[in-house]
Amino acid sequence: MNFEIDLSKYAELGVSELQDAFDFAVDQVRRNLPDFTYKCQSSNSENNIYWQEDNLEWTTGFWPGEIWLSYERTGDPIFALAGGIMVQSFLDRIVDKIEVEHHDMGFLYSLACVSAYKLTGDEDARTAAILAADQLASRWNEKGKFLQAWGPFGSPDHNRLIVDCLLNLGLLYWASEETGDPYYAELAHQHIETTLKVIVRDNGSAYHTYYFDVETGAPDRGVTFQGYKDDSSWARGQAWAVYGTAISYRYTGEEKYKEYFEKTLAYYMNHLPSDLVPYWDLDFGEGSGEPLDSSSSSIVACGLLEMAGLCEGEERKEYRKLASILMKALIDKCAVKDPEESNGLVLNGTYAKHSPYNGIPEDRGVDECVSWGDYYYMEALTRLSTGWDPYW
Ligand code: GLY
Repeated sequence: MNFEIDLSKYAELGVSELQDAFDFAVDQVRRNLPDFTYKCQSSNSENNIYWQEDNLEWTTGFWPGEIWLSYERTGDPIFALAGGIMVQSFLDRIVDKIEVEHHDMGFLYSLACVSAYKLTGDEDARTAAILAADQLASRWNEKGKFLQAWGPFGSPDHNRLIVDCLLNLGLLYWASEETGDPYYAELAHQHIETTLKVIVRDNGSAYHTYYFDVETGAPDRGVTFQGYKDDSSWARGQAWAVYGTAISYRYTGEEKYKEYFEKTLAYYMNHLPSDLVPYWDLDFGEGSGEPLDSSSSSIVACGLLEMAGLCEGEERKEYRKLASILMKALIDKCAVKDPEESNGLVLNGTYAKHSPYNGIPEDRGVDECVSWGDYYYMEALTRLSTGWDPYW
């Protein structure tokens, strides 16, 4: 791994720093259980405080994901109890088809239900996760060979894939393993093939979304929704590419996915400021004064740790070391250190920032905790602490 940044200047996370950060995170989840057992956590905080919401957003799986990671860390049945209550909410949501006309079934059901099924054998969790995989499969566009992200299925205005979807594919691979039906995994495989053809530019940066012609299914154009502009690289989109290629590499063993992992990782690393926490779009450099997106750091760290687990020898060590460096930088700069300050775990995330060139009408969750930022932070701490069977 050769990056422009001199990594020898940066320290790795020490054993006690890791354990302290992890213990604080679990304590924070425990403190939040009374608020978020029968209600979901909001997607982002306001003034660093999350509030209660119904189970409607694409983001509501992250909090139960944190609950299950806390359960794995402590074995405390209180977490399994709270996670089991969430399972029922997710089962109701998919059975009644409440706000599920989009592709984010993996973000929701891998974390809220595949987790529960793997850890406790909860059959309702399995049923909900398989139904969610069916729902995701229903977004398959046969002409373009991709899973449509948002909006009414088949509508020309919405005929696109987005890079984030790579994180939803784990649910499909899992459903095939679980049911013995290869159909789900075949869709996942074809979707990532289409995605990588269009979404990663020659320099390793990623478009956020890519449109396809409705009639012919031919790739049409790359457009941003949440990044600064169409030809920039939205930091979180780049992070989704890094982690998403690693997950598909685990399930398929396709060397090409590892090459894309390396290429997208290199672009990400070469566009970090010196404190290693990215601005919300990688086009912004040191001193730009733009808000950060701290959640991208944890997502990339999880991607590195996933890939480390699939490699051996020096390569494995290097990926783990880089993840540890990124997590130390993140903890030093952005981790919540005092429960009075926030009911979240990581400050300085950005959900969606308006620019004159993107699809965001007004800022939402800028310089705040974001629920996926907290989840991936805990996943990375878990992966650094112990062997782990991924929910993805
Ligand atoms: N998947 C939407 C986001 O990352 O904000």
